[in-house]
Amino acid sequence: MDSFSTLIRTASHEQHVAAETSTFMSDLLGGRLGVAAYARYTEQLWFVYEALESGAGRLAADPVAGPFIRPELLRLAALERDLAHLRGPHWRAGLSALPATRAYANRIRVCATHWPGGYVAHHYTRYLGDLSGGQIIRDRAEKTWGFAKKGDGVRFYVFEGVPNPAAFKRSYRDLLDAVDADELEKQRITAECRRAFTLNTAVFHALSTEFPLTA
Ligand code: HEM
Repeated sequence: MDSFSTLIRTASHEQHVAAETSTFMSDLLGGRLGVAAYARYTEQLWFVYEALESGAGRLAADPVAGPFIRPELLRLAALERDLAHLRGPHWRAGLSALPATRAYANRIRVCATHWPGGYVAHHYTRYLGDLSGGQIIRDRAEKTWGFAKKGDGVRFYVFEGVPNPAAFKRSYRDLLDAVDADELEKQRITAECRRAFTLNTAVFHALSTEFPLTA
Protein backbone atom coordinates (compact mmCIF):
# COMPACT_ATOMS: atom_id res chain seq x y z
CA MET A 1 0.00 0.00 0.00
CA ASP A 2 1.18 3.52 -0.76
CA SER A 3 2.55 5.65 2.05
CA PHE A 4 0.35 8.47 3.28
CA SER A 5 2.66 11.11 1.78
CA THR A 6 2.30 9.43 -1.61
CA LEU A 7 -1.43 9.07 -1.19
CA ILE A 8 -1.97 12.74 -0.40
CA ARG A 9 0.30 13.90 -3.22
CA THR A 10 -1.34 11.61 -5.76
CA ALA A 11 -4.82 12.54 -4.61
CA SER A 12 -4.17 16.24 -5.12
CA HIS A 13 -2.14 15.95 -8.31
CA GLU A 14 -4.91 16.88 -10.72
CA GLN A 15 -5.89 19.87 -8.65
CA HIS A 16 -2.29 20.92 -8.44
CA VAL A 17 -2.15 21.06 -12.21
CA ALA A 18 -5.39 23.08 -12.20
CA ALA A 19 -3.95 25.55 -9.65
CA GLU A 20 -0.68 25.89 -11.54
CA THR A 21 -2.41 26.49 -14.84
CA SER A 22 -5.17 28.73 -13.46
CA THR A 23 -5.56 32.01 -15.30
CA PHE A 24 -4.23 34.03 -12.40
CA MET A 25 -1.13 31.86 -11.90
CA SER A 26 -0.39 31.66 -15.64
CA ASP A 27 -0.72 35.42 -15.94
CA LEU A 28 1.48 35.91 -12.91
CA LEU A 29 4.15 33.49 -14.12
CA GLY A 30 3.88 34.91 -17.62
CA GLY A 31 4.75 38.36 -16.32
CA ARG A 32 1.44 39.74 -17.55
CA LEU A 33 0.12 41.17 -14.30
CA GLY A 34 0.80 44.51 -12.69
CA VAL A 35 2.29 44.79 -9.23
CA ALA A 36 -1.14 45.77 -7.84
CA ALA A 37 -2.39 42.25 -8.64
CA TYR A 38 0.62 40.75 -6.90
CA ALA A 39 0.02 42.97 -3.87
CA ARG A 40 -3.64 41.93 -3.80
CA TYR A 41 -2.60 38.29 -3.92
CA THR A 42 -0.05 38.81 -1.14
CA GLU A 43 -2.78 40.46 0.91
CA GLN A 44 -4.99 37.39 0.47
CA LEU A 45 -2.14 35.19 1.65
CA TRP A 46 -1.97 37.29 4.80
CA PHE A 47 -5.48 36.15 5.76
CA VAL A 48 -4.67 32.53 4.99
CA TYR A 49 -1.49 32.52 7.07
CA GLU A 50 -3.08 34.47 9.86
CA ALA A 51 -5.60 31.63 10.14
CA LEU A 52 -2.96 28.92 9.86
CA GLU A 53 -0.52 30.47 12.28
CA SER A 54 -2.80 31.93 14.92
CA GLY A 55 -4.04 28.36 15.50
CA ALA A 56 -0.56 26.85 15.51
CA GLY A 57 0.41 27.53 19.14
CA ARG A 58 -2.58 25.66 20.50
CA LEU A 59 -1.89 22.69 18.25
CA ALA A 60 1.80 22.38 19.14
CA ALA A 61 1.04 19.75 21.78
CA ASP A 62 -1.48 17.85 19.66
CA PRO A 63 -0.34 14.31 18.81
CA VAL A 64 -1.44 14.56 15.16
CA ALA A 65 -0.80 18.20 14.22
CA GLY A 66 1.92 18.99 16.77
CA PRO A 67 4.91 17.52 14.88
CA PHE A 68 4.12 19.78 11.90
CA ILE A 69 4.24 22.99 13.89
CA ARG A 70 7.73 24.27 13.14
CA PRO A 71 8.84 27.84 13.78
CA GLU A 72 11.01 27.94 10.65
CA LEU A 73 7.87 27.66 8.53
CA LEU A 74 6.01 30.64 9.98
CA ARG A 75 5.20 33.12 7.21
CA LEU A 76 3.13 35.88 8.77
CA ALA A 77 6.03 38.16 9.73
CA ALA A 78 7.52 37.83 6.24
CA LEU A 79 4.14 38.60 4.65
CA GLU A 80 3.85 41.70 6.80
CA ARG A 81 7.23 42.96 5.63
CA ASP A 82 6.24 42.30 2.03
CA LEU A 83 2.96 44.14 2.48
CA ALA A 84 4.70 47.13 4.06
CA HIS A 85 6.93 47.22 0.99
CA LEU A 86 4.07 46.77 -1.47
CA ARG A 87 1.45 48.95 0.17
CA GLY A 88 3.40 51.29 2.43
CA PRO A 89 3.46 51.77 6.19
CA HIS A 90 -0.33 51.88 6.51
CA TRP A 91 -0.86 48.57 4.75
CA ARG A 92 -2.77 47.13 7.67
CA ALA A 93 -5.55 49.71 7.51
CA GLY A 94 -6.30 48.79 3.90
CA LEU A 95 -6.38 45.01 4.34
CA SER A 96 -9.42 43.37 2.82
CA ALA A 97 -10.20 39.74 2.20
CA LEU A 98 -12.00 38.61 -0.91
CA PRO A 99 -15.07 36.49 -0.11
CA ALA A 100 -13.19 33.43 -1.42
CA THR A 101 -10.31 34.21 0.89
CA ARG A 102 -12.62 34.63 3.84
CA ALA A 103 -14.15 31.23 3.11
CA TYR A 104 -10.69 29.66 2.88
CA ALA A 105 -9.45 31.24 6.13
CA ASN A 106 -12.66 30.26 7.91
CA ARG A 107 -12.26 26.65 6.89
CA ILE A 108 -8.67 26.64 8.18
CA ARG A 109 -9.88 28.10 11.45
CA VAL A 110 -12.58 25.45 11.84
CA CYS A 111 -9.99 22.72 11.31
CA ALA A 112 -7.48 24.38 13.63
CA THR A 113 -10.10 24.51 16.34
CA HIS A 114 -11.91 21.21 15.91
CA TRP A 115 -9.94 18.83 13.76
CA PRO A 116 -6.14 18.51 13.93
CA GLY A 117 -6.05 16.08 10.99
CA GLY A 118 -7.83 18.62 8.81
CA TYR A 119 -5.38 21.25 9.94
CA VAL A 120 -2.54 19.00 8.75
CA ALA A 121 -4.18 18.88 5.30
CA HIS A 122 -4.16 22.67 5.12
CA HIS A 123 -0.66 22.88 6.52
CA TYR A 124 0.64 20.47 3.90
CA THR A 125 -1.16 22.20 1.03
CA ARG A 126 0.34 25.56 1.85
CA TYR A 127 3.79 25.05 3.29
CA LEU A 128 4.96 22.23 1.05
CA GLY A 129 3.69 24.19 -1.93
CA ASP A 130 5.46 27.35 -0.79
CA LEU A 131 8.70 25.41 -0.47
CA SER A 132 8.26 24.03 -4.00
CA GLY A 133 6.38 26.06 -6.58
CA GLY A 134 6.72 29.11 -4.35
CA GLN A 135 10.33 29.34 -5.44
CA ILE A 136 9.26 29.59 -9.07
CA ILE A 137 6.78 32.34 -8.18
CA ARG A 138 9.49 34.23 -6.28
CA ASP A 139 11.83 34.12 -9.25
CA ARG A 140 9.08 35.44 -11.54
CA ALA A 141 8.08 38.18 -9.13
CA GLU A 142 11.66 39.38 -8.75
CA LYS A 143 12.05 39.55 -12.53
CA THR A 144 8.64 41.03 -13.32
CA TRP A 145 8.47 43.74 -10.68
CA GLY A 146 12.13 44.22 -9.87
CA PHE A 147 12.16 43.20 -6.22
CA ALA A 148 15.59 42.62 -4.72
CA LYS A 149 16.48 38.95 -4.88
CA LYS A 150 14.98 37.32 -1.79
CA GLY A 151 14.27 40.82 -0.48
CA ASP A 152 11.27 42.96 0.44
CA GLY A 153 8.25 42.01 -1.65
CA VAL A 154 9.16 38.32 -1.87
CA ARG A 155 10.17 37.49 1.70
CA PHE A 156 7.12 35.27 1.96
CA TYR A 157 8.89 32.84 -0.38
CA VAL A 158 12.19 32.93 1.48
CA PHE A 159 12.52 30.38 4.25
CA GLU A 160 15.61 31.58 6.08
CA GLY A 161 15.31 28.72 8.54
CA VAL A 162 15.09 26.04 5.84
CA PRO A 163 18.49 26.03 4.13
CA ASN A 164 17.81 22.76 2.33
CA PRO A 165 14.21 22.63 1.10
CA ALA A 166 14.61 19.22 -0.56
CA ALA A 167 15.78 17.68 2.71
CA PHE A 168 13.07 19.51 4.60
CA LYS A 169 10.41 18.17 2.25
CA ARG A 170 11.72 14.65 2.74
CA SER A 171 11.49 14.95 6.50
CA TYR A 172 8.03 16.52 6.12
CA ARG A 173 6.91 13.48 4.14
CA ASP A 174 8.28 11.27 6.90
CA LEU A 175 6.10 13.19 9.33
CA LEU A 176 3.09 12.59 7.09
CA ASP A 177 3.90 8.90 6.95
CA ALA A 178 4.11 8.80 10.73
CA VAL A 179 0.71 10.43 11.32
CA ASP A 180 -1.13 8.34 13.86
CA ALA A 181 -4.47 7.94 12.11
CA ASP A 182 -6.46 5.00 10.79
CA GLU A 183 -7.25 4.52 7.12
CA LEU A 184 -10.59 6.28 7.32
CA GLU A 185 -9.07 9.34 8.97
CA LYS A 186 -6.31 9.37 6.34
CA GLN A 187 -8.98 9.37 3.66
CA ARG A 188 -10.67 12.28 5.38
CA ILE A 189 -7.41 14.21 5.60
CA THR A 190 -6.79 13.55 1.92
CA ALA A 191 -10.26 14.83 1.08
CA GLU A 192 -9.54 17.95 3.13
CA CYS A 193 -6.38 18.47 1.12
CA ARG A 194 -8.46 18.42 -2.07
CA ARG A 195 -10.77 20.91 -0.45
CA ALA A 196 -7.78 23.11 0.39
CA PHE A 197 -6.77 23.11 -3.28
CA THR A 198 -10.32 23.99 -4.29
CA LEU A 199 -10.30 26.89 -1.83
CA ASN A 200 -7.01 28.13 -3.29
CA THR A 201 -8.28 27.88 -6.83
CA ALA A 202 -11.37 29.89 -5.87
CA VAL A 203 -9.12 32.69 -4.62
CA PHE A 204 -7.20 32.62 -7.92
CA HIS A 205 -10.45 32.78 -9.80
CA ALA A 206 -11.59 35.81 -7.82
CA LEU A 207 -8.24 37.49 -8.38
CA SER A 208 -8.34 36.91 -12.12
CA THR A 209 -11.81 38.45 -12.19
CA GLU A 210 -10.50 41.47 -10.32
CA PHE A 211 -7.43 41.77 -12.54
CA PRO A 212 -8.46 40.83 -16.07
CA LEU A 213 -5.68 41.34 -18.57
CA THR A 214 -7.67 43.83 -20.58
CA ALA A 215 -7.81 46.24 -17.63
C1 HEM B 1 2.31 28.43 -10.55
C2 HEM B 1 2.12 27.85 -9.46
C3 HEM B 1 2.81 26.60 -8.99
C4 HEM B 1 3.93 26.00 -9.42
C5 HEM B 1 4.83 26.41 -10.55
C6 HEM B 1 4.13 24.83 -8.59
C7 HEM B 1 5.17 23.94 -8.71
C8 HEM B 1 5.42 22.88 -7.91
C9 HEM B 1 6.50 21.93 -8.06
C10 HEM B 1 7.57 22.01 -9.14
C11 HEM B 1 6.38 21.02 -7.09
C12 HEM B 1 7.23 19.77 -6.93
C13 HEM B 1 8.28 19.89 -5.91
C14 HEM B 1 8.92 18.56 -5.56
O1 HEM B 1 8.45 17.49 -5.95
O2 HEM B 1 9.90 18.62 -4.84
C15 HEM B 1 5.23 21.38 -6.28
C16 HEM B 1 4.81 20.70 -5.19
C17 HEM B 1 3.72 21.08 -4.42
N1 HEM B 1 2.85 22.12 -4.66
FE1 HEM B 1 2.97 23.41 -6.18
N2 HEM B 1 3.13 24.77 -7.66
C18 HEM B 1 2.31 25.84 -7.87
C19 HEM B 1 1.17 26.16 -7.19
C20 HEM B 1 0.73 25.49 -6.08
C21 HEM B 1 -0.43 25.86 -5.32
C22 HEM B 1 -1.35 27.02 -5.63
C23 HEM B 1 -0.52 24.97 -4.30
C24 HEM B 1 -1.54 24.90 -3.22
C25 HEM B 1 -1.97 25.92 -2.59
C26 HEM B 1 0.59 24.05 -4.42
C27 HEM B 1 0.86 23.01 -3.56
C28 HEM B 1 1.90 22.13 -3.69
C29 HEM B 1 2.15 21.04 -2.77
C30 HEM B 1 1.34 20.69 -1.54
C31 HEM B 1 3.30 20.37 -3.23
C32 HEM B 1 3.98 19.18 -2.60
C33 HEM B 1 3.59 17.89 -3.27
C34 HEM B 1 4.26 16.72 -2.56
O3 HEM B 1 5.40 16.45 -2.89
O4 HEM B 1 3.62 16.12 -1.70
N3 HEM B 1 1.33 24.40 -5.51
N4 HEM B 1 4.66 22.52 -6.82
